Amino acid sequence: MKKVLVTGADGQLGLAIKAAKAAYPGISFLFTGKKDLDVTSPKQIDLFFRANRFDFCVNAAAFTNVDKAEEEIPAAYLLNETAPRLLANACKSHNVFLVHVSTDYVFDGTKGTPYTIDDTPNPINVYGASKLAGEKAIENVCCNYCIVRTSWLYSEYGTNFQTKILAKAKSLPYLEVACDLYGTPTYAPNLAVFLLNKIRDLAFVSNMEHFSDGKTMSWYDLAKQLTTVEIKTTTAIFNLKAKRPMNSALKVKT
Ligand SMILES: NC(=O)c1ccc[n+]([C@@H]2O[C@H](COP(=O)([O-])OP(=O)(O)OC[C@H]3O[C@@H](n4cnc5c(N)ncnc54)[C@H](OP(=O)(O)O)[C@@H]3O)[C@@H](O)[C@H]2O)c1
Repeated sequence: MKKVLVTGADGQLGLAIKAAKAAYPGISFLFTGKKDLDVTSPKQIDLFFRANRFDFCVNAAAFTNVDKAEEEIPAAYLLNETAPRLLANACKSHNVFLVHVSTDYVFDGTKGTPYTIDDTPNPINVYGASKLAGEKAIENVCCNYCIVRTSWLYSEYGTNFQTKILAKAKSLPYLEVACDLYGTPTYAPNLAVFLLNKIRDLAFVSNMEHFSDGKTMSWYDLAKQLTTVEIKTTTAIFNLKAKRPMNSALKVKT
């Protein structure tokens, strides 16, 4: 029986993993939210790793509010850089394989075609820079790990593009959504299955992977798929505090 710790388990991805767990009878899960295991606390991590045995740690905890990160820079780095470093060190000491989730926002969005794992990151906002710093922190610790970059997570779980669009569609006569930001939307439950299959099959063979199940499209295109409410197009320059990569589509190995 493989044992898996999931941190940040009350967030979108954590909830999607919880929902998928019944299909993995060969895996036993330890789900921890912020109140059970604060991944920014060296002491809590140390105590938790000493008290519990597991083979994999899936780090689904993160500072994910892209606009708020511009104003709360230390908090973004604490969660997106320091916490992965602390987890990587604990994983190294306890012989645990770290599965860390990162983002398409490590790229600047100017390439024009989907980004591969060989492309050079160049973040253009605090969120992307802090997530890239987290990737580097893990690489430097040299535990056994895989960083899985994903993009535009949406689902019925937690708070995300889909839940926000559907909430607005209930109360507004029409929506306005940017039509000039492109990426590859990823249904969070499919990311959960991708990660759990890899764990079940011991199939993490490289230190970096890209995962998305979506085709390249705009925020507007995605919103159109999610609601029948009228949607007017707008441009990213309006309303958004943080700069966004104009096309951060990920290329997934097939
Ligand atoms: N969402 C996207 O569109 C997207 C796109 C690409 C990559 N990703 C990456 O995918 C991963 C999962 O994203 P997600 O959408 O599931 O994020 P999410 O819904 O924001 O979940 C993150 C979770 O981490 C928790 N957390 C915050 N501080 C913590 C702490 N100190 N200790 C433990 N947990 C803490 C949060 O709790 P509170 O809410 O209570 O603070 C939240 O439950 C992240 O690494 C993210 O960077 C996300």
